[in-house]
Amino acid sequence: MRLDQFVSQALQISRNEAQKLIRAGFISVNQTVVTKAPTNITADANVTYDDEPLSLPGLLYLILHKPLGVISATEDPSQRTVLDLIKHPHARLLHPVGRLDKDTTGLLLLTNDGQWSHRITTPRQHVPKVYLAQLAEPLSQLAAQQLLQGVLLHGETQVVAATKIEILPKQQVRLTIHEGKYHQVKRMLAAVGNRVITLHREQIGGLQLDPRLQAGDWRLLASTEIELVFASQEPPLPPLKSHVFSGVS
Ligand code: URA
Repeated sequence: MRLDQFVSQALQISRNEAQKLIRAGFISVNQTVVTKAPTNITADANVTYDDEPLSLPGLLYLILHKPLGVISATEDPSQRTVLDLIKHPHARLLHPVGRLDKDTTGLLLLTNDGQWSHRITTPRQHVPKVYLAQLAEPLSQLAAQQLLQGVLLHGETQVVAATKIEILPKQQVRLTIHEGKYHQVKRMLAAVGNRVITLHREQIGGLQLDPRLQAGDWRLLASTEIELVFASQEPPLPPLKSHVFSGVS
């Protein structure tokens, strides 16, 4: 790797800025000041900036307990984003894996590994996502059946179905979906005449939200957890013909 590339990634600055630091003599490689930006360095080179060791971020995988009121974006001129919650030297390299609405809480993954996030979000991989919803009305058995069979949402051409629904006390339901369409859970519940009051994501694939994480807390994933996301993938059953239309757009 070229020295200017290494310095720009390690310090998260532009290649141009990195070249200026190198030319000005701030960067040493293996205890020797190097002023030529295109110098190639080996993987085990000891690079320092003003005598402070530099390292590359590598691949990062984080789990966040998303709180209410922050948006699933990397930056925004007026609203707090999930990245504002991550105090990590390489936070600005991260992106959220899919989105949770501003008023949805729960499990959100962040990474700088584009392939991993694509594997999780692409509907082809059938990674299940489990949500706990507080509803305005009790969910009838008939409505649960409709959700399992498939509902057609406004503006969509294909029906979407839940693959599992648990009707819980106090007008709560736990449901599993495999896609990640805009406002999908809220629109599905609206399609069967109900309304979501609060929504919380509990699980992605085989990975559950860590109960030790309070809202707003995050931690790095353990290496075993990075693949756990792809455990327990069952392809959804094909939705049946009958469906209802969503009342919201
Ligand atoms: N479905 C929704 O309606 N909102 C979310 O944030 C996630 C899934």
